[in-house]
Amino acid sequence: MGSVSLKIGDGTARFKRATFCSSAVNLLMLFSVITTNLFALYAFTSSPKDHTNHSLHLAHHKNISLISEQVSLILREIDSSQKKLTQMEKELLGYESIDLSQPNIPTELKNFLQHHQLPLGKDSRTGITEMVASVGHSCERSLDLLAQYMKYKVNGPCPDDWSLGQRLILQGCEPLPRRRCFAKSIPKVGLLPYPNSLWKNVSEKIYSWSGIGCKNLACLNSKKLNRDCSGCFDLVNGYEKERFVKVRGKNDFLIDDVLALGSGGTRTGFDIGGGSGTFAARMAERNVTIVTATLNVDAPFSDFIAARGLFPMYLSLNHRFPFYDSAFDLVHVANGLDIGGRPEILEFLMFDIDRILRAGGLFWLDNFLCTNDEKKKVLTRLIEQFGYKKLKWIVGERINGGGNSEVYLSAVLQKPVRV
Ligand SMILES: *[C@@H]1O[C@H](CO)[C@@H](O)[C@H](O)[C@H]1NC(C)=O
Ligand SMILES: *[C@@H]1O[C@H](CO)[C@@H](O)[C@H](O)[C@H]1NC(C)=O
Ligand SMILES: *[C@@H]1O[C@H](CO)[C@@H](O)[C@H](O)[C@H]1NC(C)=O
Ligand SMILES: *[C@@H]1O[C@H](CO)[C@@H](O)[C@H](O)[C@H]1NC(C)=O
Repeated sequence: MGSVSLKIGDGTARFKRATFCSSAVNLLMLFSVITTNLFALYAFTSSPKDHTNHSLHLAHHKNISLISEQVSLILREIDSSQKKLTQMEKELLGYESIDLSQPNIPTELKNFLQHHQLPLGKDSRTGITEMVASVGHSCERSLDLLAQYMKYKVNGPCPDDWSLGQRLILQGCEPLPRRRCFAKSIPKVGLLPYPNSLWKNVSEKIYSWSGIGCKNLACLNSKKLNRDCSGCFDLVNGYEKERFVKVRGKNDFLIDDVLALGSGGTRTGFDIGGGSGTFAARMAERNVTIVTATLNVDAPFSDFIAARGLFPMYLSLNHRFPFYDSAFDLVHVANGLDIGGRPEILEFLMFDIDRILRAGGLFWLDNFLCTNDEKKKVLTRLIEQFGYKKLKWIVGERINGGGNSEVYLSAVLQKPVRV
């Protein structure tokens, strides 16, 4: 028992790197390591043959309880120093919420999260001295999955694990860390030129089916994937072809009517939870560019939209929209708005929608199912709080498959100019 070694993960390596940074924290860390080790050395090398009065005294009386008291004091000291070191290590890495000192963290995750000093020092315009990689703070809650996600061979092929990534996103780990591996790429044979691509079938072999229950389009089309997509992958025979251009009930608005309300100023739009991209396709035919937000929940939505020559955006609704204020002329949402949870959650989402919509732009709420009257009231109150002009507002009832009546809200609202 000559000395005590301090286990701080691979803190040694990081410590070396840290000396370059020459921060006060590093000096403190050095001091802490030295004092802790000296203290420990002293405690464990002290023995009766030492000539200090104190030790002789102890040896003489064989006062075991005093010795053990001292030892436990030292151990407490070591323990608290270790905690301090772990804290400093976290501060150095800059990720308070993700504990990178845990043993099972892949090096690649540490590499990604490591702060990078700007090569030319402080940027004069932004005042930034280092770059910080972004990753969702909730990734910490799914650290095992995240570790699994970041275990791959650098420069090699990525594991076929997009569904693992999506699981992380759905658990709030968004954005995901970047990876240095080649994502699986499926040959996209038979893609058609635009605008034929909008409605023509292509071989289903070009979609990614791994991690999805269905393995072909026929299977997808036999299912109600969500409220806004039942048979939405059937571009030939199904109802999909009629959406937005034919009405089924008073809650359905025609695209041309809505565009007329925008008096020609609708050039871009954002479709939230846009299924297989049919809204974007119909808008594209009218020279309006739509970005469709979608995840691949139970179906290859993103691949499918892309194959139609449209713009899928792989994003959960918990993520702040990656657009600057007033970016869009139109926002279209159907039951994607039904995000559940506390009322504040819907409020945060509505404020973000409001933010990316320009003044005079249109918010199209399309057949939103209000499962009960209370829900309708809450949503109505929330919408009214924004002071939009109600260009269309229809509350309709429909009998569902189970024979129960359901209340649907459809509306086209115009964002006011606020000063
Ligand atoms: C040891 O300490 C005691 C009490 O502090 C003192 O009286 C004594 O002289 C010391 N002996 C030696 C050898 O230093
Ligand atoms: C050992 O040390 C403790 C604390 O200083 C004291 O209370 C106790 O009487 C000592 N015992 C002996 C046997 O000297
Ligand atoms: C289009 O795809 C669907 C589903 O895979 C299939 O049933 C249908 O026969 C295809 N239509 C054409 C014209 O290829
Ligand atoms: C869309 O743009 C093209 C090319 O500018 C034009 O020929 C076509 O008439 C436009 N379509 C509509 C519906 O405005």
